[in-house]
Amino acid sequence: MGLEIRKILVVGAGTMGHGIAEVAAIAGYRVAMVDISEDILKRALDRIRWSLSKLRERGALREDVESVISRISTGISIEDAARDADFVIEAVPENMDLKRQVFLTLDRSVPRHAILATNTSSLPIGEIASSTSRPDRVIGMHFFNPPPLMPLVEIIRGPQTSDEALRITLEVARKMGKEVVVVNRDIPGFIVNRLLSRLIEQACYMVEEQGYTVVAIDSALRYRAGLPMGVFELIDFTGIDVVASIFNEMSKRGFKARLCGSIADKYGKGELGMKSGRGFYTYPSPGVYSRPAIPREDGEKVDLVEVFAPMVNEAVYLLEEGIVDSPNTIDKAVKLGLGYPRGILEMADEWGIDSVVERLKKIASSEAMSHNSPRGLLIKMVSENRVGIRSGIGFYTYTGISEKRMKTIIVRKENRIGWIVLNRPEKLNAISPEMLEEISTALRELEADEGVRVIVVTGSGRAFSAGADVTAFTNVNPINSYIYSRRFQEILNMIERMPKPFIASINGYALGGGLELAMACDIRIASENAMLGQPEINLGLIPGAGGTQRLSKLVGRGRAKELIMLGEPIPAREAERIGLVNRVVPHDRLESETRALANKLAEKPPIALMAAKIAINLGSDYPLEAGLALESSLFSILFSTEDLVEGVSAFIQKRKPEFKGK
Ligand code: COA
Repeated sequence: MGLEIRKILVVGAGTMGHGIAEVAAIAGYRVAMVDISEDILKRALDRIRWSLSKLRERGALREDVESVISRISTGISIEDAARDADFVIEAVPENMDLKRQVFLTLDRSVPRHAILATNTSSLPIGEIASSTSRPDRVIGMHFFNPPPLMPLVEIIRGPQTSDEALRITLEVARKMGKEVVVVNRDIPGFIVNRLLSRLIEQACYMVEEQGYTVVAIDSALRYRAGLPMGVFELIDFTGIDVVASIFNEMSKRGFKARLCGSIADKYGKGELGMKSGRGFYTYPSPGVYSRPAIPREDGEKVDLVEVFAPMVNEAVYLLEEGIVDSPNTIDKAVKLGLGYPRGILEMADEWGIDSVVERLKKIASSEAMSHNSPRGLLIKMVSENRVGIRSGIGFYTYTGISEKRMKTIIVRKENRIGWIVLNRPEKLNAISPEMLEEISTALRELEADEGVRVIVVTGSGRAFSAGADVTAFTNVNPINSYIYSRRFQEILNMIERMPKPFIASINGYALGGGLELAMACDIRIASENAMLGQPEINLGLIPGAGGTQRLSKLVGRGRAKELIMLGEPIPAREAERIGLVNRVVPHDRLESETRALANKLAEKPPIALMAAKIAINLGSDYPLEAGLALESSLFSILFSTEDLVEGVSAFIQKRKPEFKGK
């Protein structure tokens, strides 16, 4: 239909310009690349050649390098190159006068049908367009650095951009192999930089006003949120001058944000990040990158919801204003433009919209951050109980969610996570014979459900479980108590023998049978309020559901004897220190941390997880030689799985594997 784009003119052959020219040439377009000197053009061509050969080496380019290059012509005259151009992408420095001058020249030189796109990241499209006689054919086309590798392009409608210009630009971007997000209105920062600015603002605030360290924030972002880099690492990498100027341009255009003192300070001192050898981190020498050392433990105390809440709020602004069409657009921009493993709104649904709102209220209570108070849509979502995964609907709808209430437990399925929630909060989830049987039923059901990859056991209210129900201990004799003890053990053995991984999410007291239940699980994560112990001795008893065995295996005989013989519960931190729980988190983060851990496990290959579980659980009962033989057998069996093929090919193709459990 209508116009066919054959020749693309790229104005500016700098970092972005030459990359865009390269991408256009790979897509098969004839490309003209223009800049102010032959020298610059020669260097740009060399860089394109180098980049193409890298792509070719990696198998990402089918054509040979020189034939791609042969489609690129260079020159120093816009007028000459523009005569037969169908589509122009301008990538000159971010200076309004310069851009307007370039667009004026272009408008006079290109054919009437040509579209004029600008790669600006900070200047208003409308103002650039107004220097031409065709504002309806001017549009924003924001590439990410480096264009050949970054999959995303933001396409921005100026105030007068026509539907046709948008349609043609979308076609060009897609032909270049790019994923696109359409920004319906030309707002400062578009989607990606706007969201990122909120993360930067909040991270700076937490460092400057709340005593967090740069390393703590980055550690939490890198290891716990799984971002490719911490935010301060990213600022250093991008250049502190660049970040400062983006903020500056955005605030000039009305974007409200607190001034980040540490960025301003470093900018003033000429500490510009990697390029000057020092920024938030130190580098071997100016321009030489080495990944800052960031210890994994340093981020444990950082509340991720608090770090990201302003970003969620900003995303909601984009939705409320109709600047983007759907939550999907936002999340696509975040995943492809920033490399996040999950979208910001997917994460928000996971944390719970109510938690996000609560954090925003707290953040906005400080004068300097008051512009971050929760937006109307968020408040509305909470009032309508659209709080995310937990309620089955948030920014997205979760069809994979079901909840079954038995008398004493709740069984929830949340896509790939199965939850067993002990639910006698008024009795601190004391495990009655009835609850035990219900747990057994739930285990069988969750085991049989192929969609469920991970099972979480937790308690409602203030306890995980305060143990076997003591009131059932009256009228018992040695015979039926033996049977009961064996039954309890049998059910915990089921957990240990089931192929799926189990997480005990210990939300409060885990005493007696409660701790024994937790110890049968594979990984234990505890709230810092939790108390753990085997208090049976105080009733004249000993643990009867595996406590004497599993506790000694976990913490050694000496400590096990102390815990069992004294019967004194210990706090979670102490339990973590002796290896009884894997990790401890603040109480209000237990659920989100548990879910994050469960999601990670759910992405691992199920058969390999099963093999790991069997090898570790059974192997520890065997003599070393037998354990090793078991390990080798399981190891070799995994070579018959499709998941292994998938894992290895994903590694080679540098993508995320998708395991099917086959
Ligand atoms: N069996 C049956 N009921 C239990 C229970 C258990 N193991 N643990 C707690 N409960 C009940 C309490 O009897 C109480 O019920 P009530 O309100 O009808 O009186 C309710 O749960 C709340 O417990 P309470 O003792 O009032 O709470 P607390 O905060 O003062 O104390 C504990 C909490 C955990 C220290 C205390 O409940 C306790 O020691 N429980 C027994 C732990 C135990 O010995 N477990 C091993 C059993 S083999």
